[in-house]
Amino acid sequence: MECWSAKFSSVKMIEASLSPVTASLANGCDAVCAFVNDDCGAETLEALAACGVGCVAMRCAGYDRVDLSMAESLGIVVLRVPAYSPHSAEPQRSFACMTRLSKRTRQHMFAGNYALSGLVGFDMHGKTCGIIGTGLIGRCTAAILLGMGCRVLAYDPFPNQTARDMGIEYVELEELLASSRSALCGQDETRHLINKHTISLLKPGAMIINTSRGGLLDTAAAVEGLDSRKIGALGMDVYEEEGGVDAGRRRVAQVLGALASRPNVLVTPHMAFLTADALEAIAEVTAENLAEFVASRHDPSLTFTNQVLP
Ligand code: NAI
Repeated sequence: MECWSAKFSSVKMIEASLSPVTASLANGCDAVCAFVNDDCGAETLEALAACGVGCVAMRCAGYDRVDLSMAESLGIVVLRVPAYSPHSAEPQRSFACMTRLSKRTRQHMFAGNYALSGLVGFDMHGKTCGIIGTGLIGRCTAAILLGMGCRVLAYDPFPNQTARDMGIEYVELEELLASSRSALCGQDETRHLINKHTISLLKPGAMIINTSRGGLLDTAAAVEGLDSRKIGALGMDVYEEEGGVDAGRRRVAQVLGALASRPNVLVTPHMAFLTADALEAIAEVTAENLAEFVASRHDPSLTFTNQVLP
């Protein structure tokens, strides 16, 4: 990228994921640029600090794999890209999942099967959809649903007026699950927020879409929910132990493979963000973040636009 070579004296591209084992490859660098599933735990950060690295620039919004307290105690600045395409990429993916699952067109993926048997779907118009978390992405997804004539309920511990003004109705999580035909987990991670208990509260046959963070959905409970038909359809762009898939761990791959082979489940490889426009925006903001870090080395009073603190 032009913006990178113009801003920095040297950029080293390393293919390996960041981990305690690979951290030493950053020896002599001022900063590292990491992605969503890189291991930025305590051990990696200590190894980076020992190499003289003073900044971890995440080229993504999520930072759940960064040990922020350890980074702070080591004096490592953590930066991220808070929003790069909230108006398109992630809501687009949620919408694609919903329409694909609602029309049950997945069978068409198998070559030559053009029979209509088993392909009866349902109209989204007039259905009630629940959004868990009404940040940027949740609101953009809600706008699509409202445009399709859905009623949109939402749960968020920090409701916002913009969402209310759009016509989103805030309710408690239990009411959202019990009333919605479709529940979308679009937002911040809360481990196993959707678990055996919360799944038991769902309207029978509801669709769940998770494009947020894998840890939000208890996969084992989701499998049980699908078996009992409490969950009618499941779309997952993110899943627990994603790092395990990247590392080729067989068990995680098997669980996902078994899930993906069900006709009412759609699994995609954490790609909601993946559009050319988003990649461009991510590269530009990351370069700006790193430039701020370099400038701060000369003037410690400077602050960072996109710093993540514990
Ligand atoms: P945001 O920061 O704008 O909004 C987060 C919202 O979640 C806030 O309104 C907050 O009040 C709410 N929230 C916090 N705790 C909650 C809880 N316990 N229950 C319900 N809501 C809660 O975030 P943004 O940009 O809209 O991103 C949302 C999520 O999507 C994040 O988890 C992010 O990591 C994920 N994401 C996934 C991508 C993908 O490729 N699949 C790409 C980009 C973001």
